Amino acid sequence: MTTARRGIWPASVPEDVYPPQEDSQLLIDTAVSSGRIVGQRVADLCAGSGVVGIAAAAEGAADVRAFEICPRAVHEAKTNAAVAGVDMNVHLGPWTRAAEFAPFDVVLSNPPYVPDFEDERERIPTLAGPPQSYNGGYDGRAILDPLCLSVADLLAPNGTFFLVHSEFSGVDRSLNLLRGTGLSADVVARQMIPFGPVLNARAAWLERTRLLELGRRVEELIVIRADKL
Ligand SMILES: C[S@@+](CC[C@H](N)C(=O)[O-])C[C@H]1O[C@@H](n2cnc3c(N)ncnc32)[C@H](O)[C@@H]1O
Repeated sequence: MTTARRGIWPASVPEDVYPPQEDSQLLIDTAVSSGRIVGQRVADLCAGSGVVGIAAAAEGAADVRAFEICPRAVHEAKTNAAVAGVDMNVHLGPWTRAAEFAPFDVVLSNPPYVPDFEDERERIPTLAGPPQSYNGGYDGRAILDPLCLSVADLLAPNGTFFLVHSEFSGVDRSLNLLRGTGLSADVVARQMIPFGPVLNARAAWLERTRLLELGRRVEELIVIRADKL
């Protein structure tokens, strides 16, 4: 049983909050198995239900701060932390607010990263979560680009960043942006998963853009680890 399933995974979330999914789980498992969490100051950027930060707190982080723009999700994250019996400060606001509390030893993020185009949105069932939780702009990089460009400023010396996103959101671009700020950066975890409702709704468009081979309906999630040397 993975860390997330041992009591920190919320039993349910409201429709307007992102339900933790494979990306949440892969990020948690990668960060926890790295051994980088215990005793550290941790930030969870784009926290949603709070599951990632709660996992870090449950693993023994010294201090966890979560940042999230949706007031309903902030409420959920606070409630879920209380239910899990861990301390986590949850801040309402954009991920950039983390700069007020930096530096962090570890920064974790599962941001919105799915490439989107307006016309398909209404066909996506609400079980996928609210659009602001997954839509990452036309190339999926509306948050990924500024995040990769500035996360080094949030990290303490020897600090570590773990970032999860899809193969469709530009893995090499994330690596290059992170390396360009002086961090070492590599893909440290990969997982193939079947398309969920969002990518199923966008499959034909992704095929037209050549990001997706005709007929393929699985995506690879990746976790990037970036270290400040
Ligand atoms: C993919 S969900 C991930 C939620 C949670 N971390 C998880 O793994 O289950 C992304 C979250 O980012 C939030 N979000 C979107 N834009 C944001 C921003 N600029 N700053 C902070 N949070 C943001 C969304 O409301 C959503 O809850």
